[in-house]
Amino acid sequence: MVKRLLKLFNLTKVPPLAVDVYSKVSRAANGDFHSHIADDVAEESKRMIGHRILDVGTGPGYLPLNIARRTPEKMHLVGVDISEQMVNQARENARRMGIPPQRVYFSVANAERLPLYEEEFGFIVSTEVLHQVKDPVKMLNQMFRALKPGGKAWIYDTTSDISNTHLEMHLDMVRRRLLAGKMNRTTISWVTLLRKREILFESYTLSELLEIVRKSKFKECDLHRDGIWVKMVLKKPKAE
Ligand SMILES: C[S@@+](CC[C@H](N)C(=O)[O-])C[C@H]1O[C@@H](n2cnc3c(N)ncnc32)[C@H](O)[C@@H]1O
Repeated sequence: MVKRLLKLFNLTKVPPLAVDVYSKVSRAANGDFHSHIADDVAEESKRMIGHRILDVGTGPGYLPLNIARRTPEKMHLVGVDISEQMVNQARENARRMGIPPQRVYFSVANAERLPLYEEEFGFIVSTEVLHQVKDPVKMLNQMFRALKPGGKAWIYDTTSDISNTHLEMHLDMVRRRLLAGKMNRTTISWVTLLRKREILFESYTLSELLEIVRKSKFKECDLHRDGIWVKMVLKKPKAE
């Protein structure tokens, strides 16, 4: 239903108000999620090839901005999104956080076509995007192409086959944020959608995700469940 509505409104032409609302919802509801991933990426950056990280489907840009705050100056980040309005919002969020474009650069690009990026990044991250693109195998193949040999990608997405226990645990966490005053009417509506599984319903199951990876150039991945999310760890083999 939600995905159908988003398609109807065409995500490449998100009205500015919707982008602003999404930016606020994402910060309030996903703040801990982005911080937790940014901590892990910062730790991983000590072992990364090169100093360039790509975030695919960056939305309001909170993930790369959080990673920038946790990594040394020499680490350069690029966030791409198909929606120009989202990219503008990400640039505005960077300005507000005092992070210059030389450190985190935001650009409009389709995850299914990233021709400018050839073996450029040692590490790629993407959160809650895979289920939104038309052809997820194409997206993975573009990430494979953009990675340096020996590079890694971490993809996070919700799955439709999570247990009620995991969903309830997540909603508990959201409720605690609500009590701490970090939620508002908009984020509460988002939680309602989650509770009704309107959002998760549009995601893939674990076995569908494995099939998508198998059809891509990555061929295989490690899957880790983390609450309502699944983390896919993909590797591009080192050059012979
Ligand atoms: C649910 S949001 C997630 C945003 C961000 N990663 C986060 O965690 O807050 C999904 C984002 O994917 C973007 N998106 C959808 N299809 C895309 C595509 N084909 N290429 C690039 N970005 C895309 C949307 O514009 C939206 O900003």
